Amino acid sequence: MSISIGIHDLSFATGEFVLPHTALADYNGTEIGKYHVGIGQQSMSIPAADEDIVTLAATAAAPIIARHGSDRIRTVVFATESSIDQAKSAGVYVHSLLGLPSATRVVELKQACYGATAALQFAIGLVRRDPAQQVLVIASDVSKYELDSPGEATQGAAAVAMLVSLDPALVRIEDPSGLFTADVMDFWRPNYLNTALVDGHESINAYLQAVEGTWKDYTEQGGRALEEFAAFCYHQPFTKMAYKAHTHLLNYNGQDTDKDAIAQAIGLTTAYNRVMGNSYTASVYLALASLLDQADDLTGKPIGFLSYGSGSVAEFFAGTVVAGYRDRLRTEANQEAIARRRPVDYAGYRDLHERSFPTDGGDYATEEQTTGPFRLSGISGHKRIYQAR
Ligand code: COA
Repeated sequence: MSISIGIHDLSFATGEFVLPHTALADYNGTEIGKYHVGIGQQSMSIPAADEDIVTLAATAAAPIIARHGSDRIRTVVFATESSIDQAKSAGVYVHSLLGLPSATRVVELKQACYGATAALQFAIGLVRRDPAQQVLVIASDVSKYELDSPGEATQGAAAVAMLVSLDPALVRIEDPSGLFTADVMDFWRPNYLNTALVDGHESINAYLQAVEGTWKDYTEQGGRALEEFAAFCYHQPFTKMAYKAHTHLLNYNGQDTDKDAIAQAIGLTTAYNRVMGNSYTASVYLALASLLDQADDLTGKPIGFLSYGSGSVAEFFAGTVVAGYRDRLRTEANQEAIARRRPVDYAGYRDLHERSFPTDGGDYATEEQTTGPFRLSGISGHKRIYQAR
């Protein structure tokens, strides 16, 4: 029998503030149905001035270290597409904030929203090589588009931390994977820009092509039949995309695209992304958290995962939910991370959106805003300074 490796624990964090889409719609005159129904978004998380991908990541990972300790963790893989440094891995700051042992390898991975799935698969490879080891995988992103652009409604922020281990308590990740890469320019962020560039409609098409491509390869690799899956966790740049993707997959397989069947397959996966917005690398694993927290018993049931990262790389794979998983969920903490956010008005959000540190190497302190356990206290000599509170 093959050994069982997968997600042993999962915890997430999100920004200090929340902007309801009603506030954006009031400002730009959009009919609210376009946001609530058309793209399937209700609100978006906005990080405080003293939060970033590092503070979100440390906040997500701290409960995992508290529960399991760090003795078996020899690798931290940090996936992000909103990187804060061209050279140093954001994971090294997290390693320091969490007091992880020096005998750890830490690295940052990038391929748009797909990065965390690469991290998960690489982690599985490391655990297979030495099943005594665990890997901490972190997906952390702040999604930022230009103000007044179509992408503005699909921003958000969150981090998911996952402990990958032998005999996982939540989800066993299966072979095979279906893979797909295509060189497309649907979404990208040149080094000199703070906000992403996107051709939204091209991106939807590229995503749907990737659904087909990964599924075709998954089938050719001997994967499960479509009917075997109890639910599907899709990457959700906006939650309506999951509906488009699943409809496309059903059509591709010549199956009925009955509304109720689609809602049954993905309805429970969208609750968290709908209120936090796009969290890029974290989004597909927030879909998993949302499903596990809300579904009736899924023990033994296969879940399909479709991870898409613009540019583009995608992967389809299956995970089986492990007996006893419900006792290990963090449902209350997850709901609290969402409920604790403080509303920000449109002017306040716009002000936060436009902030950036001066680049002259001087000393700059950030305003104290976050009520979370970690903060970015400032920058000095081009070095970001973090604080645990
Ligand atoms: N009530 C209900 N639905 C409405 C509506 C209303 N009043 N007004 C518009 N809609 C629907 C549209 O019909 C459309 O639905 P459809 O896609 O099913 O046809 C949807 O709302 C969006 O409208 P659209 O005109 O396409 O919006 P847009 O030009 O502002 O673009 C995105 C929307 C999502 C493409 C844009 O926000 C974007 O580019 N976001 C970034 C996406 C991304 O991050 N991609 C990269 C990662 S995959």
